[in-house]
Amino acid sequence: MSTLDALTGLADRAAFREGLRSALQRAARSGTQVALVLVDLDGFQAVNDCHGQDGGDALLRAVGARLLHLARAGELVARLGADEFAIICEQVTAPAALAALAERIQLAVQAPLDIDGASAMVTASIGLASAGADADADGDALLRFAAAAVQAARAAGGNGWQFFDPQVHQRALQRMDLAHGLQLALARDELAPRFQPIVDAASGRIVGAELLLRWFPRQGEVSPAEFIPIAETSGAIVAIGAWVFRQACLAERDWHARWGAAAPYVSLNLSVRQLDDPALADSFAAILRDTGADPRRLLVEITESVLMADIDAKLRVLARFAAMGLRLAMDDFGTGYSSLGQLARLPVDVLKIDRSFITDIAGSGESRAVVQAVIGLGRALGLKLVAEGVETAAQQLELCSYGCDLIQGYYFYRPMPAAELVAAMARQAAQLEPPRGAGLYFLLYVSEAVTPLSPTQLGKLLQRTRVNNGEAGITGCLLYENERFMQMLEGERDAVLATFARIRDNALHARVRVVMQGPARRRVFTHWSMLLPDDTAARRDAPDFHGWQARPLPFDVLADDARVAYAVITACVPDVKH
Ligand SMILES: Cc1cc2nc3c(=O)[nH]c(=O)nc-3n(C[C@H](O)[C@H](O)[C@H](O)COP(=O)(O)O)c2cc1C
Repeated sequence: MSTLDALTGLADRAAFREGLRSALQRAARSGTQVALVLVDLDGFQAVNDCHGQDGGDALLRAVGARLLHLARAGELVARLGADEFAIICEQVTAPAALAALAERIQLAVQAPLDIDGASAMVTASIGLASAGADADADGDALLRFAAAAVQAARAAGGNGWQFFDPQVHQRALQRMDLAHGLQLALARDELAPRFQPIVDAASGRIVGAELLLRWFPRQGEVSPAEFIPIAETSGAIVAIGAWVFRQACLAERDWHARWGAAAPYVSLNLSVRQLDDPALADSFAAILRDTGADPRRLLVEITESVLMADIDAKLRVLARFAAMGLRLAMDDFGTGYSSLGQLARLPVDVLKIDRSFITDIAGSGESRAVVQAVIGLGRALGLKLVAEGVETAAQQLELCSYGCDLIQGYYFYRPMPAAELVAAMARQAAQLEPPRGAGLYFLLYVSEAVTPLSPTQLGKLLQRTRVNNGEAGITGCLLYENERFMQMLEGERDAVLATFARIRDNALHARVRVVMQGPARRRVFTHWSMLLPDDTAARRDAPDFHGWQARPLPFDVLADDARVAYAVITACVPDVKH
């Protein structure tokens, strides 16, 4: 049996195996370490294509010679396969020395080479693994570990080196397991759809539902954040995506049969990989025909970043979807980089505002500005707006006041099995369950102080109301002048009414009279404030009415005309929105 590789003159695979076995035995005896360096060329095929096989051979010989030059005396350098080389290092003392060797190999391999007068260049993905005397010194395992490190180096973009990392390796094995399991998930009936209701922003009524995929393999549920990326890389997403689309169609059919025009629409997610599949539109068309679902009640969601990469190719698929009657939504809007021009070109019907902006809406002026801008933009383009990740009443009210159409989030509903959604719809239809967050409400009242309030009393009142109203999501304004109060409260109906009940009972004032109250389409105050006489520029700069008035007009008299009371209170705060 030959022990030399004919092309490079290095040790061949058989000699390498033998060399590794004896190196491990020596290490076991002397209590030292053996390290294996695997060098795998990146894109060697391109060199062959470009320079022919002779050129490729010349390059392999040159790389072999360079590796031999870098190895220390006595170290075995081998060619294991087409473009794969190995060096066995013995008596390794420090990982740093190995790292330095890997670094030198990387530089040596990438140095340009002259092939028949033309310059050629390759790079390498290099993997390092070592075995100690204490470890179960097994040559095959060491080779597998070094190969896993090569894969990691290649996955990181090639032209680099990596040490074998048992944790990374473990994760890679788990991913392989999951990828394998996913191939079987459909056949084993382990996938299940969940539906998260989407509600009308003002009334809280269910108008749609997003289909979210869940996977329950035997070992327990695996989160979509984990399995979807794996399904994308393994390609399983194509079959799974078709199954998801079918589930969405079946839900649409079922709900239409139950509730007719009042049935919620169904939205579903599409991944990059599916969009790249040339058979996608045909497959969806067949499923639509098969199930008889109404495409206009199906909303296909695609994330902004996916849509914007190679927009022309995507546009062709989307145009076909639109021709089939499907509705399209741009998901996670605000996180990608769509230009206005691109947005106007896309056959998109819905914008879904990314949850990160909603989460920050109360705390960050920037997020609030983004949300307002997106809603304004969507309205200008005639699109529907859906806010995702709504978790509090205050977020709902704020979105309502900006004119957001639809809302999705834990504040209303979590994702649920179809049967639960059917039950929630039934409760809603029977009015058993008043829609959550029964909409925006406002109340304007006037009252008289029992005795004049001291600055300390007013200060205390301001402090309490700030805390309470902030927590209850109430905006508005309280005026105090000539021992009279005028106050406007805006917020969720229940919150406004509960707060007003506490205010009415307060012994500091009497003759509390509601001037007007009712549902509001949007807020006019951006925050809560309390103003004392001559506190605001608006009032300071106003003409002095005293000389013009036949008699002083305290708030309770002004309030005889509700429009005047409304005009007075909204004129007092500079950033009121009309
Ligand atoms: C003229 C007037 C206006 C008030 N406005 C508010 C208000 O906007 N929000 C509020 O929580 N309490 C308001 N209060 C105080 C309530 O009557 C009550 O004292 C307070 O809500 C109790 O809060 P606590 O339970 O946190 O102490 C007002 C009281 C008066 C006299």
